[in-house]
Amino acid sequence: MTDPYGPRTAAWKSLEGRAREIDSIPDLFAADPLRFERFSVRALGLLFDFSRQRLDGAALAMLLQLAGDAGVPRWIERMFAGEKINNTENRAALHVALRRPVTREIRIDGEDVMPLVEAERAKMRRLAATLHAGELRGATGRPIDTIVNIGIGGSDLGVAMAVQALAGRVKPGLTVHCVSNIDGVALSRVLASSDPATTLFVICSKTFTTIETLTNANAARAWLMAEGGAAAVSAQCIAVSTNRKAMDAFGVAADRRFKIWDWVGGRYSLWSAVGIAVALAVGADAFDDLLRGAHEMDEHFASEELRQNLPVLLALVGIWNRNFLAISAHAVLPYDDHLARFPAYLQQLEMESNGKSVRRDGEPVECATCPLIFGEPGSNAQHSFFQLLHQGTDIVSADFLLPARSMVGQQAAQDLAAANCLAQSWAFAAGDPAAPSRTAQLSDAHRRYPGSRPSSLLLFDRLDAATLGKIVALYEHKVFVQGVIWDVNSFDQFGVELGKRLASELTRAGTGGSDDPAMIAGALAQLRQLR
Ligand code: F6P
Repeated sequence: MTDPYGPRTAAWKSLEGRAREIDSIPDLFAADPLRFERFSVRALGLLFDFSRQRLDGAALAMLLQLAGDAGVPRWIERMFAGEKINNTENRAALHVALRRPVTREIRIDGEDVMPLVEAERAKMRRLAATLHAGELRGATGRPIDTIVNIGIGGSDLGVAMAVQALAGRVKPGLTVHCVSNIDGVALSRVLASSDPATTLFVICSKTFTTIETLTNANAARAWLMAEGGAAAVSAQCIAVSTNRKAMDAFGVAADRRFKIWDWVGGRYSLWSAVGIAVALAVGADAFDDLLRGAHEMDEHFASEELRQNLPVLLALVGIWNRNFLAISAHAVLPYDDHLARFPAYLQQLEMESNGKSVRRDGEPVECATCPLIFGEPGSNAQHSFFQLLHQGTDIVSADFLLPARSMVGQQAAQDLAAANCLAQSWAFAAGDPAAPSRTAQLSDAHRRYPGSRPSSLLLFDRLDAATLGKIVALYEHKVFVQGVIWDVNSFDQFGVELGKRLASELTRAGTGGSDDPAMIAGALAQLRQLR
C-alpha cells in the first residue's frame, strides 16, 4: 500500500526533481505560445490565470498526482458527508452546510443539520428586514442607525471584511463598526461617535469566554446601562454564541440570541449567525447572494475534476511554491479597495488553519506547511513593499485579485488599477535583467529586475455579494486541500492557547513583583515604573 503522506509519495520525489529543472518564467512563455490557455481555468465567472507561475505541464501533472495520492477527492467527500474530520477535537467541519439550500440534507451523527441552519437563517432574515424597514428600535423607541460588532478573530474579520467589501449594499444612513482589539482604543472611538439610544451591539463569540470580546462587551453594556438601564441592554444587545450560560449572565434577551455550533470553526463562520452584522448592514437579499455564491463554489469543489477545480489548483500552485520552490511568504494583493481587509481575513484563515508542524496523527510533519500570508490592496502595496517583491533576496509569491468593473462608478480609475495590476504581475514574471542605469551614480545592477517571481491572477467581472462568496469559499477550500496534502488538521488552533493562558496568569498576578517570570521580569519592572 502506498503511504498517502505527501513527502513520502513518488509524486513528491518527482516534483523535487522537476523543480530543479525550471527556473525561468520567460523561458516557459517562449516555449509555449498556448501557455495562457494551458495554465488558466474559467469557472463560475472567475478566471484563475496561473500562467505566470514557475510551473510547467509536467509539474502540474505531478501535482495533480500528488493530490490524488493524498486522497483529496475522498477528503472532500468526507467533509461534505459531515464526518468528524477535525480529528483533534472530534468535530465535523461543516461550514458548507451554512450556505447550502435547506432541502439538501447533510447529517452529523445521523441528524440532518439543515433545519437548524435554516431556523437561524430565518431569524437573521427577519431581523435584517425589520432593520431595513426602519422598524428595529432601541429601548426609547428610536430606530437603530448604528451597528457595532464586538468580536475578534473569526468573530470579527469576516464581518469587517464583508461589510467593507459590500459597502455599496449597506443600508443608507446605517453606520457599521467592528470592534475587536483589547486596548479599548477602537471601542472608545466608536462610543464617542455613537448615540446610546440608536446603537445596536452584536456580541459575537463562539465561546463567550474570549477576553478581548468580554472586555469590550462589558464596557459597551456599561455605556448602554448608564443611559438606558437594563432595558437598553436587552433591546440593543444581540449575541451569537454556543455558550447559553454566559449569554444569560450578560443579560442577552432570549429573542436576541443566535446559535452557532461546534462544527463551525471561528474562521469559517462568516456564513452563520456570526455574519448577522453583515446581514443587518446589507440586507437579507444581499446576504443570501453571498451564501449562494459560496454554495456555487462548494458545488464546483465537490464535483469538478481536479484539473479544472479552482480550489484544488489554487492549493496546488501554493504547494508547488512552498514545498518545491521553497517560497516562504505569499502576498495577497486585491486591486479594489473594497477588499482592503481581505488580506487580514486570509491571514487568519490560512495561518490559523495550516500554520502547524504536527500531522493529524501527532507525528512531526516532514515538509514545510503554511507560508507567511500578508497583503495590502494594490496600488497602495506597490508604494509600500513591492520593492522587496521585485528585488529582495527572498522570492515572494503573490495572488492578484482584480475586478474588471468599478462598483463605485469610477471605471476610468478602475481601468488604471487594472493596468497597474497586470503590469506588476508582468514585471514580476518577466523582470528586466538588462535595464540600464539612467544616472551616472548608479551601477546598472541597481536597476536590474531578476524576474521569474511567480504570481497568479484571479479576474472577475465585479465584486458583488455572490462573487465575494465564491472567492471566500475558494480560499477556504484551498486551505483544506493544502491541509490534506500536508496531513495537518486545518480546523483546530491549539497554537493560540499558550499566550492566552500566560496573559491571564499575568493579569491575575496583578501588580506584585516578587514572582515575576524571569523572561519578562525586566520588562515588567519597567512597565510598572512607567505607569
Ligand atoms: O484566537 C483564537 C480564536 O479561538 C479564533 O480561532 C477565534 O476565531 C477567536 O479566537 C475568537 O473566538 P470566540 O468566537 O470564541 O470569541
